[in-house]
Amino acid sequence: MAKKITVELCMGSSCFARGNSEILQALESFIAERGLEDNIELVGHLCLGKCNEGPNLRIDGTDYSGIGSEEAIALIARALEE
Ligand code: FES
Repeated sequence: MAKKITVELCMGSSCFARGNSEILQALESFIAERGLEDNIELVGHLCLGKCNEGPNLRIDGTDYSGIGSEEAIALIARALEE
């Protein structure tokens, strides 16, 4: 897993309440457990403009909406391997 990816997480109140608080915790644990600090750039946004579809996140420019933390981590793990 030498690749570097960018994960953009919407930290707006709507997305945070809809699940991005869990995704953020899961992602921080995932990064720490696997030592991926140099492989994942984590960027926070105030709003990605799709509040009612949240939680919203973006992995290397691709948007994902309405997913849970397990699915988000699986997508991020896959992006690291591609
Ligand atoms: S708060 Fe996340 S899209 Fe608006």
